[in-house]
Amino acid sequence: KDQPLVLGIETSCDETGVGVVRGHTLLADAIASSVDEHARFGGVVPEVASRAHLEAMTPTVDRALREAGVTLADVDAIAVTAGPGLAGALLVGVAAAKAYSLGLGKPLYGVNHLAAHVAVDQLEHGALPKPCVALLVSGGHSSLLLVPDVASDVRPLGATVDDAAGEAFDKVARVLDLGFPGGPHIDRAAREGDPGSIAFPRGKYEDGTYDFSFSGLKTAVARWVESRERAGDPVPVADVAAAFQEAVVDVLTKKAIAACKDNDVSHLLIGGGVAANSRLRALAQERCEAAGIRLRVPRPKLCTDNGAMVAALGAELVGAGLAPSSLDLPADSSLPI
Ligand code: KG4
Ligand code: ZN
Repeated sequence: KDQPLVLGIETSCDETGVGVVRGHTLLADAIASSVDEHARFGGVVPEVASRAHLEAMTPTVDRALREAGVTLADVDAIAVTAGPGLAGALLVGVAAAKAYSLGLGKPLYGVNHLAAHVAVDQLEHGALPKPCVALLVSGGHSSLLLVPDVASDVRPLGATVDDAAGEAFDKVARVLDLGFPGGPHIDRAAREGDPGSIAFPRGKYEDGTYDFSFSGLKTAVARWVESRERAGDPVPVADVAAAFQEAVVDVLTKKAIAACKDNDVSHLLIGGGVAANSRLRALAQERCEAAGIRLRVPRPKLCTDNGAMVAALGAELVGAGLAPSSLDLPADSSLPI
């Protein structure tokens, strides 16, 4: 009860997420997604997302409060994703958070979306080890972070130089005529396939950086499939999915483990929508065990975008005694970590 009750609002992409936490305790995690409205376009349409956030905002806040068994009057602070993300989508969340903050007379905390993906793990596994390394992989970002302190010190080690990992999953799923979002479809299809059947390129594998590149892999898969189709041969969807997936998770885990070793860090956290991938989880577990690294992966619902992660980071900032944001907090689509 002495811990602050924080309401968190997330609107950086296509999920309107509202979470309520008290310290490290998750009280509510309400989500309204516009993913079905984007499915027919094969990707998130920013204008559609913004409008959906606007419609979903108040009902989702109400639902979260009901779920948590609290009222607005109980809320001690409002946290909101200030960036990075889609500009128009972020704006809806930031405007709503300001309105709640002003109306309730409670402090406003603008937070970084990537740091929130890290902080959310505390709701499941308790206080984060300091330091830890975080691998964040989703449709919008693929980053390796060194995290001495999630509230005040999160350092970028590397990021994708082109497509995000989830974006590559979505595009390859499209090539294979699987549904959107593609990640879960590829994950499922890959279980019946042989990852060693096709040798797809692993971008930036040995370049000594912590950066990623998935666009060459995506193109290689598309070319491979096209050449089969041109020859009139059937496309072995399961094998392509498995070989593609293996190429992605091989690079992700290799670089994440290297980041831990190089920085003398013994805890790796994986977050973001792609952390739901079963092969990524299995290979990360295997390689962490071999390297003496402890692996933390939140449950899938906390890995994908949600409001609880924003509330979790907000609670951390309140707890650390950091100053709140001012009411002219901007939504910043390319907010640096
Ligand atoms: O974190 P998230 O919900 O939203 C973004 O910030 O992008 O991540 C969504 C991404 C999509 O690209 C989706 O295809 C991918 O996560 N994803 C997966 C799996 N589940 C979701 N990728 C691979 N395997 C999965 N099981
Ligand atoms: Zn995200």
